[in-house]
Amino acid sequence: MNNAPTDTTPTGTAATGIPPEQARVEQDLVDTVVASFDNTVDPRLKQLLQSLTRHLHAFIREVRLTETEWNQAIEFLTAAGHITDDKRQEFILLSDVLGASMQTIAVNNEAYTGGAAAATEATVFGPFFTEDAPEIPHGGDIAGGAHGQPCWVEGTVTDTDGNPVPGARIEVWEADDDGFYDVQYTDGRVAGRAHLYTDENGKYAFWGLTPTPYPIPHDGPVGKMLEASGRSPVRAAHLHFMVTAENLRTLVTHIFVDGDPQIGTGDSVFGVKDSLIKKFEHQEPGTPTPNGRDLGNQTWARTRFDIVLAPKDA
Ligand code: BEZ
Ligand code: FE
Repeated sequence: MNNAPTDTTPTGTAATGIPPEQARVEQDLVDTVVASFDNTVDPRLKQLLQSLTRHLHAFIREVRLTETEWNQAIEFLTAAGHITDDKRQEFILLSDVLGASMQTIAVNNEAYTGGAAAATEATVFGPFFTEDAPEIPHGGDIAGGAHGQPCWVEGTVTDTDGNPVPGARIEVWEADDDGFYDVQYTDGRVAGRAHLYTDENGKYAFWGLTPTPYPIPHDGPVGKMLEASGRSPVRAAHLHFMVTAENLRTLVTHIFVDGDPQIGTGDSVFGVKDSLIKKFEHQEPGTPTPNGRDLGNQTWARTRFDIVLAPKDA
């Protein structure tokens, strides 16, 4: 196992004004705690625990953490635990707003450039996926009663050599135009989510809702942290996808709406990537729909999202 080298440089030199004897006491503690994990049987767990120890102590020493601040941190984590249940996950939210979720995705989804086409980029999963979304046919509607402007979404799933992928499973989920996912209502509704399969040519199409910006849950400790730092909880408008197919890397991603002002202002969980920003073309009432759906005097939109899946072990 390729353990990161131990940083034995004491934090506390002339530059930080920490006397050398004090720096030595602090470094001795780091070394003792690191060594306490020496007998961890699983080499990966040993690496994680020892590296975490080094980074955590480096942080404490760098900022010269006060005991009051340490207590506040414990209170913050305790509050995150208290607000977390099977529907609300404050720790994932914390990871998201710290960019840790997106960094983990970056580390694990290195851009695959081995084929003719680049694989579609991944982005943050978020807390609102459910396993039991209904199946819809090609051209079906995911709304299930959720309010919003109807939006025709279509595309093709291919591999990085350009071969269409028939039978790929596509999960889609999104908030309604009040900014809420179905699971955030207490009435048990299933709306704004579905799954479907690509046809024999790798094509898919469905009716969704034109995405609108919405805030991540911000009534807990993470919301307070955002407020204290002058950050908005709002996410850029998006539509979630998870695409799975045999022998290809599962893709978790979203598409964003070109022109959404929130993209420029900043997505609260750092999920936006340029390649995922798509044009949503506005359609006037009465414009014929792609599958003959009668939308009366409603406006609607349409977008295209072609998806390229990397090889599984790339
Ligand atoms: C979401 O896109 O649904 C989401 C992602 C991260 C945190 C909260 C919500
Ligand atoms: Fe979302």
